[in-house]
Amino acid sequence: EDADLGEFAHYMLKEIHEQPTALENAFRGRLDMSEGTCKFGGLNLSRQDIRHIDRILIVACGTAWHSGLVGEYLIERYARIPVEVEYASEFRYRNAPMDKNTLVIVISQSGETIDTLEAQREAQRKGYHVIGIINNVGSTIARENDGGIYQHSGPEIGVASTKAFTSQVLILSMLSCYLGRTRDLSYAEGCKMVKAVQELPALIKQTLSLADSLKAVAKDFAKYQDFLFLGRLEMFPIALEGALKLKEISYIHAEGYPAAEMKHGPIALISEDCPSIVIVPDDETLKKNLSSVQEVRARKGKVIIITDSHEIPSSLADEIIIVPKAHNCVLPILMTIPLQLLSYYIAVELGKDVDKPRNLAKSVTVE
Ligand code: AGP
Repeated sequence: EDADLGEFAHYMLKEIHEQPTALENAFRGRLDMSEGTCKFGGLNLSRQDIRHIDRILIVACGTAWHSGLVGEYLIERYARIPVEVEYASEFRYRNAPMDKNTLVIVISQSGETIDTLEAQREAQRKGYHVIGIINNVGSTIARENDGGIYQHSGPEIGVASTKAFTSQVLILSMLSCYLGRTRDLSYAEGCKMVKAVQELPALIKQTLSLADSLKAVAKDFAKYQDFLFLGRLEMFPIALEGALKLKEISYIHAEGYPAAEMKHGPIALISEDCPSIVIVPDDETLKKNLSSVQEVRARKGKVIIITDSHEIPSSLADEIIIVPKAHNCVLPILMTIPLQLLSYYIAVELGKDVDKPRNLAKSVTVE
């Protein structure tokens, strides 16, 4: 098995570095620049069906649930369809009211997660059209659903999901473009999205070159026992995902919050012993995010900023990690990569079993 690792010390690191290819595989054959849209072969939905969707319910667990949350922001923004995201384990038991024009999307890397499978069966029992975003070809969820989109990320062996997450986010972004273009999104906006997707692998390669600086940051920050991850809008689920990665492989307590929610409680945690990682996109939320940074620093909290802005003064944070600029339909993917690398290097620094963390299985097939 170890022969597959090549130059990498762990599968997680290998899979982080496979992301340019994994994402290219997710969009290959699915972009249509002449129409400014994306296309998917296996949804089993007509254009009329798509025009009539009035609500989308996304159902998933763990990291896949986080990608669904990013999808909620993207689909609502570009396709203007209301989206809800549920934990599969909750959906199966709560008999949520749904409309006959609700489209259900399940997301699962393994395609075998029991809660997601049973949620799909429950939705199908009630007559809903369920499509899957699944990595594992021929898995039970993929075989049983009514249509779907394969991720083609390749096998993911590290228990902590990395390339499968970014590929799910990319597919949701492309889906938001497709749904939008079938409804009200303009040709010009569709073209910008398609171009952003095409350019993504090169930008990911650039972002991966931050690995050495993140390794150094990890050495300084591995001693802390608690972390806050903060982000606004679609960067909030990226903050949740960053916190989950750190928890899973380093066993360090970490919480993700929408940046402005901090003052409604979590701010009480901040001290010199609890650093914050703040995701600061260079957009209309930048100033607000920087005031959250200042609130943390005023309470002696250390701050790592992940941003695509070159204008943030270095005195504002302990570390500033700059990712390349990109259209906001793919920027959450670029912001994820430094968080993956940081978690990885902190876990290595602490001598943890990165690929097989305690108490966790790659696929949760029991309730
Ligand atoms: C991810 O790092 C986790 N190990 C876990 O949350 C995982 O995403 C979850 O169990 C869902 O798995 P699935 O995508 O295979 O359904």
